[in-house]
Amino acid sequence: MLPCKSLTWVLVFLLISPMFFSVSVSQNDSYWSAKKRHMREKVRKMFYHAYENYLAYAFPHDELKPLSKSFTDSLSELGNLRLEHLPQDYNGSALTLIESLSSLVILGNNTEFERAVLWLSENLTFDVDARINLFECNIRVLGGLVSAHMLATDSANRLVQGSYRNQLLTLAEDLGRRFLPAFDTPTGLPYAWINLKYGVTENETTETSTSGCGSLILEMGALSRLTGTTLDVITGQWIEYSSGIGAGVDSFYEYLFKAHILFGKEDLWKMFHSAYLAVQNYFRYGPWYHEADMRTGKATYWQLTSLQAFWPGLQVLVGDIAAANSSHREFVYVWKKFGVLPERYLLDHQILHPTEKYYPLRPELAESTFYLYHATKDPWYLQVGESIVNSLNSYTKVEGGFASIRDVTTMQLEDHQHSFFLAETCKYLYLLFDDSFLVDRNYIFTTEGHPLPVLSSWHERLPEAYIPTNWTFFKSEKQRRRASAMTLQVCPASFNSRHDKQRVESACHIPDTRTDHKCFTDEECGVDSTSCRRRSCSMAGFCGLWSI
Ligand SMILES: *[C@@H]1O[C@H](CO)[C@@H](O)[C@H](O)[C@H]1NC(C)=O
Ligand SMILES: *[C@@H]1O[C@H](CO)[C@@H](O)[C@H](O)[C@H]1NC(C)=O
Ligand SMILES: *[C@@H]1O[C@H](CO)[C@@H](O)[C@H](O)[C@H]1NC(C)=O
Ligand SMILES: *[C@@H]1O[C@H](CO)[C@@H](O)[C@H](O)[C@H]1NC(C)=O
Ligand SMILES: *[C@@H]1O[C@H](CO)[C@@H](O)[C@H](O)[C@H]1NC(C)=O
Ligand SMILES: *[C@@H]1O[C@H](CO)[C@@H](O)[C@H](O)[C@H]1NC(C)=O
Ligand SMILES: *[C@@H]1O[C@H](CO)[C@@H](O)[C@H](O)[C@H]1NC(C)=O
Repeated sequence: MLPCKSLTWVLVFLLISPMFFSVSVSQNDSYWSAKKRHMREKVRKMFYHAYENYLAYAFPHDELKPLSKSFTDSLSELGNLRLEHLPQDYNGSALTLIESLSSLVILGNNTEFERAVLWLSENLTFDVDARINLFECNIRVLGGLVSAHMLATDSANRLVQGSYRNQLLTLAEDLGRRFLPAFDTPTGLPYAWINLKYGVTENETTETSTSGCGSLILEMGALSRLTGTTLDVITGQWIEYSSGIGAGVDSFYEYLFKAHILFGKEDLWKMFHSAYLAVQNYFRYGPWYHEADMRTGKATYWQLTSLQAFWPGLQVLVGDIAAANSSHREFVYVWKKFGVLPERYLLDHQILHPTEKYYPLRPELAESTFYLYHATKDPWYLQVGESIVNSLNSYTKVEGGFASIRDVTTMQLEDHQHSFFLAETCKYLYLLFDDSFLVDRNYIFTTEGHPLPVLSSWHERLPEAYIPTNWTFFKSEKQRRRASAMTLQVCPASFNSRHDKQRVESACHIPDTRTDHKCFTDEECGVDSTSCRRRSCSMAGFCGLWSI
């Protein structure tokens, strides 16, 4: 009886599912809002499953080992592929707790946020004999602390006990100062490694990773503005050096552009813009970006790496939705093919890389999906998010947390729950389904997913439209309330209303001086919001994208 009954249900489902689907694509608002609530709760459960297991079995050590229900003091291991010079007497820095702070705020758990803040204030110290990777420690620990400090102070009722006296900022400043000896080199290019207690170790390697070192300016720059110190002068110097030699398609570009949004510096936009155009010209092949040597422009590897999946999210910020959409779809296709996104996939042979078959719970596809959904409101992206959530729950959830996948062909697990699963993967999935945290506020997310508010007081010069206090120019109150920061300011906003003309804004957009677009000189023309190209004044006296 029972099997028959379930079979009937399967048949009924198969029969109605095409109808079901056509209803869903016809944008039934109540269907999608119920779906979003349901998915948001699923993601919330995932976060707490990861978080509470960390607290139970690993805290105050760095990360959870979910299979053996134990811990690893991995801050000193991050980026250290051969596990050299590991500390003898280091008991961790509560890394996963630090990484969870901003997620707790986004999930609305102020009580737990406060408890964690107080614990860290009293118990965290960086005066430890541990050699750490500057890039990793910056994006995870410094970024986590600076972001949490700003969240702790941006709302009067976030910390009910009122006992917050900038302790996280004090910790961040202490850590930032411990980074400084790394920059004391002839080139200004920092050492990749530093001992938190003793500074640069004697005979430290001078080799540094190109992928990692361009990603200090958001965290160090924010810290400088908060403390009034000049820490960012050093990173500024370094950025210039780096742009000369170039880097891969990675957080270096991301940070040039996001730092432009956060600090309003024109020269960062110029550097980003020329780099972005070069990437589109030399690395792009249809929806794919092959790896290439930036110094020669020659294609090196025709491979997809799972880290590249962040790129469409960055393109959304830039306003290049069409390109973002087409690349994102290819990543989704590979995710669906394997159930999760493998670390490396050979595009020319359409097969997995022979050794890099792992999936360590990375966030990048969820991140791009989040950006694309909020920029377009196309419910297709919600379905992508749902399938990511379902894969994570069916392949990586274990009793003691969420485990990385060692081999996507066998789904064999590995005893490691990375802190970025809480800082990024869960956070972006949650924000995909519930963006209330972003409504009427404007944030930039660091490469580790820690939000930093966009403040007009930090800007040297930014088009007025991007300053949060001037958001009232949106036509109706209803639009203003419904839209999130992502759809309003930084991302292009395409309002789907049938009555309103579609309105597009992006971070690069600078309006023409006159609303009727008339001009006498090129200086009176702005920057096109979708192509990000400078408009010029035509012979007939109108601003436009006239080709050269
Ligand atoms: C959405 O779907 C629900 C349930 O099928 C239905 O009751 C409702 O009228 C639909 N709303 C719209 C706007 O189509
Ligand atoms: C680390 O933990 C061990 C064992 O609990 C303890 O003996 C040692 O003193 C701790 N080290 C530091 C630096 O706190
Ligand atoms: C906040 O987090 C704590 C620790 O995980 C949990 O026990 C509590 O239920 C959470 N509160 C809410 C409102 O979700
Ligand atoms: C600091 O750590 C100790 C030892 O684990 C704990 O008893 C104390 O409550 C912590 N401080 C705060 C403010 O949580
Ligand atoms: C550093 O290198 C020099 C020259 O090779 C060597 O004499 C010295 O012992 C090394 N120091 C350490 C701490 O390894
Ligand atoms: C994304 O691409 C798909 C497939 O080409 C297309 O149907 C869809 O309209 C595109 N969406 C956007 C927002 O460009
Ligand atoms: C807000 O922005 C609009 C459009 O860019 C501009 O016309 C207006 O003067 C600005 N208002 C303020 C108070 O800055």
